[in-house]
Amino acid sequence: MRAIQIEAHGGPDQLKLVELPVPEPTPGEVRVRHRAIGVNFLDVYHRTGLYKSPLPMVLGTEGAGVVEAVGAGVTHVSVGDRVGYAARTPGSYAEARALDATQVVRIPDSIDFERAAAMMLKGLTVQYLLERTLPHGGLHAGDAIVWHAAAGGVGLIACQWAKALGLVLIGTAGSAAKCELALRHGAAYAIDYRKEDVVARVREITGGKGVKVVYDSVGKDTWDRSLDCLAPLGLMVSFGNASGAVPPVSLLALTPKSLYVTRPTLGVHTATRELVEAGARSLFGMVTSGKVNVEIGRRFPLAEAADAHRAMEARATTGSTILVP
Ligand SMILES: NC(=O)c1ccc[n+]([C@@H]2O[C@H](COP(=O)([O-])OP(=O)(O)OC[C@H]3O[C@@H](n4cnc5c(N)ncnc54)[C@H](OP(=O)(O)O)[C@@H]3O)[C@@H](O)[C@H]2O)c1
Repeated sequence: MRAIQIEAHGGPDQLKLVELPVPEPTPGEVRVRHRAIGVNFLDVYHRTGLYKSPLPMVLGTEGAGVVEAVGAGVTHVSVGDRVGYAARTPGSYAEARALDATQVVRIPDSIDFERAAAMMLKGLTVQYLLERTLPHGGLHAGDAIVWHAAAGGVGLIACQWAKALGLVLIGTAGSAAKCELALRHGAAYAIDYRKEDVVARVREITGGKGVKVVYDSVGKDTWDRSLDCLAPLGLMVSFGNASGAVPPVSLLALTPKSLYVTRPTLGVHTATRELVEAGARSLFGMVTSGKVNVEIGRRFPLAEAADAHRAMEARATTGSTILVP
């Protein structure tokens, strides 16, 4: 089968098209023949080595396709099932992959393979953030939240999901066109954080109070501004590093407002089959009810995965990006 592998960490040029044997599932695994593969900023961290995994490595942690083989002990999916997954280990930039079956769920008939590949990892992330990563006292309709990179893959799903919950999502994005896109997807406000004073705008929008929670996947460039956007007892959710990892911080920075901080990861929220099934139920409910529409901004052939990485890092993508095998 064809796969995209890296042998060393570095730039997009490290992505090489290779021929690999089709993997046999071991006990507890299934093999999925991909119809579409999701591209995530996470794949960039694996490529650069910010997140460590053994080399050589086939990149990618999100996909959808048909179950082609089932290892011993797997009972919840069968050969021929239409499935999607967010995997805890890389290996998806390939025509097929074997993976731990607990991460694999059947997808509803109304969700096509491309949309499934575009939303499993990103949508399960929004699910655990908006439903399970909550500030003191929870979130309620009418509450304001800040969501950075609101026009991205995770971001556009979050805008719609937050609106469905009645939340006032203040999105940030890197251009006027991206702000417009976030607004069209349910953000109540959108701030161009490359031009505007985010903290001043958030204060103005919230009548000086600040927000209960900031969901920040940009990292280094937004950390300080995010803390300044929070109300007393607010929650800082740092869940990504698109601009670079947040450098070590002083806990004293949290003192004036008694802030909470968490640095969550999807893997913990999908650690068991029950968690995966519950998250997927909620996600599929949002999508099949029409409350969340999964936007595929760009499609690349599998062999051109390096171009997908270049586009993502140049901030030239919106919504989800997929690879077509
Ligand atoms: N912890 C978790 O469980 C988890 C799970 C999934 C995703 N994530 C994180 O969520 C974030 C979004 O993931 P995604 O795959 O949907 O990506 P994405 O949002 O589609 O792409 C990343 C976006 O980050 C923004 N950005 C800001 N500064 C940047 C910089 N210096 N270089 C590149 N981009 C920059 C860009 O939007 P603008 O141009 O609008 O700024 C860019 O489009 C990523 O940080 C990812 O690691 C975390």
